[in-house]
Amino acid sequence: MKGIILAGGSGSRLYPITKLYSKQLAIIYDKPLIYYPLSIMMLAGIREILIISNEETIPLYKKLFGTGSHLGLSVSYTVQKAPNGIAESFILGEDFIGKDRVSLILGDNIFYGKMNFFYSAVENEEPGATIFAYQVKDPQRYGIVEFDSATGKPAAIVEKPKHPKSNYAVPGLYVYDNRVVEIAKGLKPSARGELEITDVNKAYLDMGELRVEKIGRGLAWLDTGTPEALLQASNFFGVIEDRQGLKVACIEEIAYNKGFISLKEFKELAGTIPDSLYKDYLLRVAEE
Ligand code: G1P
Repeated sequence: MKGIILAGGSGSRLYPITKLYSKQLAIIYDKPLIYYPLSIMMLAGIREILIISNEETIPLYKKLFGTGSHLGLSVSYTVQKAPNGIAESFILGEDFIGKDRVSLILGDNIFYGKMNFFYSAVENEEPGATIFAYQVKDPQRYGIVEFDSATGKPAAIVEKPKHPKSNYAVPGLYVYDNRVVEIAKGLKPSARGELEITDVNKAYLDMGELRVEKIGRGLAWLDTGTPEALLQASNFFGVIEDRQGLKVACIEEIAYNKGFISLKEFKELAGTIPDSLYKDYLLRVAEE
C-alpha cells in the first residue's frame, strides 16, 4: 500500500499565511499541520509516502522530512503545477503507485481518535474503493454521501450540494485499488475546473465497488479552513497534550512505536534535535 499526501492548493482563505507557504504548514499547537495526516498514514503502517504540493512549498516539506529514512520511511515529492483537483494526485503519482493499492489523505485533514476503520480498509485487499462518512452540520461544504433508506447502501455522492439530502460528509481520506490511476486519467474537469475526487468515487459507486464506512461519534475530524478553525484545532491539541503529557502526531515517536526505527536509531534521532520541549519529550519516551 502506497500513501499520498496532497498538500497543495491556494488556501486563499488563510491569506496572508498562505502568501508564505501552503496551508498544510500552518502551525497546529506545537507542530506543522501536515504532521497530523502523515502520522495517520504511519499509524496505518504505510511507509512509502508521496507528498504532492506546489513548487514553492516542496522545498519546505523536503526540509521537514528529507528522504524520510530517519523515520524508517521513504518520502518522495511531486509538484502539482496548479490546483487542478484532488484526483490529479493519481495521475501525478502514477509511477510512484506502480502496481500497488493507494491511500490518499488530504494534507489539511486532521483526525483524532480510534482510526481502526481506516487501518482495516488499508489491510482489506478486496478490489474496489473505501471511503468514509462523517456527520457534520454544514454538509454543503463537502462531498456528501446519500444512503438508500431501505438498504442502507450508498446511493449517490455529490460534491458540495447547495441543498444536501444527507449530512454525511466524505472526509479527505480514501483507499483505492490500482484502477484509480486509469479512472483519474479518464476524468473531465468539473465546472470549477478541477479533477474531482467525488467523480472518482462515483466511478467506483457505478461499478458497485465503493465501500462507505460510517464513522461514529467518538472520532474528531477537525476543520482547518479558516483562522478560527486553526485556533480551535490548536486549542484542542493543546488541551489534550497538556492533560496527558503525551504528544499527538509526534512522527518520531510513532516511527519508534511502530518499529520503523530501533531504540538506538530513535535515541540518535532525538540527539540531533535542537534543545527544546520537543527534544525533552523524545528523550523521555526513549527512557520509558
Ligand atoms: C475536498 C473534496 C470534498 C471533501 C473535502 C474533505 O473539498 O472535494 O469532497 O469532502 O475535501 O476535506 P475541498 O477541500 O476541495 O473544498
